[in-house]
Amino acid sequence: MIDIDNLRKKALSEIKKADTLKKIKELEKRYIGKDGKVSDIFKKIPQAGKEKRAKLGKEANKLKGELEEKLKNKRLKLEKCEKEEKVESFDPTLPGKKPDLGSLHPLTTARKELTDIFVGMGFSVIQGPDMETGWYNFDALNFPKDHPARDMQDTLFVKGEKEKVMRTHTSPVQIRHMEENDPPIKVVVPGRVYRNETTDASHEINFYQLEGLMIDKDISVSNFKSVITQFVNEYFDGDVNVRLRPSFFPFTEPSFEVDMSCSVCDGSGCSVCSQTGWLEVLGAGMVHPNVIKNSGLNPEKWQGFAFGMGMDRLVMIKYGIDDVRLFYSGELRFLEQF
Ligand code: PHE
Repeated sequence: MIDIDNLRKKALSEIKKADTLKKIKELEKRYIGKDGKVSDIFKKIPQAGKEKRAKLGKEANKLKGELEEKLKNKRLKLEKCEKEEKVESFDPTLPGKKPDLGSLHPLTTARKELTDIFVGMGFSVIQGPDMETGWYNFDALNFPKDHPARDMQDTLFVKGEKEKVMRTHTSPVQIRHMEENDPPIKVVVPGRVYRNETTDASHEINFYQLEGLMIDKDISVSNFKSVITQFVNEYFDGDVNVRLRPSFFPFTEPSFEVDMSCSVCDGSGCSVCSQTGWLEVLGAGMVHPNVIKNSGLNPEKWQGFAFGMGMDRLVMIKYGIDDVRLFYSGELRFLEQF
């Protein structure tokens, strides 16, 4: 005999007791699932006596509908509770967890700041290749063949590439630009340069330079001095003095080293400027007539100045960084400060 009433009682009390979605799922399977107890009843109906079959079928259907309804309601109720619980456990007043964000490398920021200052004075920003020929890196820049001036900069030669070097400075881009462009010329060239050096706190095998070139009919040293004074005052944000000292580069004549008054002690003398009150910031000079000629321009007609500065060095001075190698170390404790 199939006791439908008993089955109903048991099922209803179990549904009532169920307090998790997991339990409801189990009950669904147990009672109204494919192999559940209600299905069992349907399977047994054919064996029942003729007159009982119709009644049994009717009651089984009724039970099935009832249980489906109860299970559905209970399920909805529990789903709603769980959702509310989840909302409750989120406390929007608790302090958040700060995500780690990347930032621009200090040299990337510097390149933009430095070139922006020159763009503000009407210069264009151009680039040249990192791998150069000996011609552009040395010969065209008036380095005499077999002259010790070539050894001023320790060169990295490219294996298997005859005549190819990693550029030791950005000055070769002067030649490349003058070959392709007629004066007036006002350009700056930010770029990476390479030196075959033993590294220490102030030397790296690669670093960044910013080259400048201005060519026109009558450009003088005083034009240069005013451009560069304006530049250091903008970058160092203050009252910085500039002085020129005589120097030598094969590609400029006359040549100078440019010093600026120490931005740390305002020129009174400190450990950063070795008590001199001055910091050397760039090399410069009036472009040598041979360089103008080697670029295909007439040195009788055109003249101008060029300069080259170490971007790493400027950033070190600005932020009081005492080791150039930090820029290339990938050290997050250093980088996170910028
Ligand atoms: N190229 C020189 C260097 O690397 C700097 C420089 C550039 C000097 C332009 C004069 C004119 O030291």
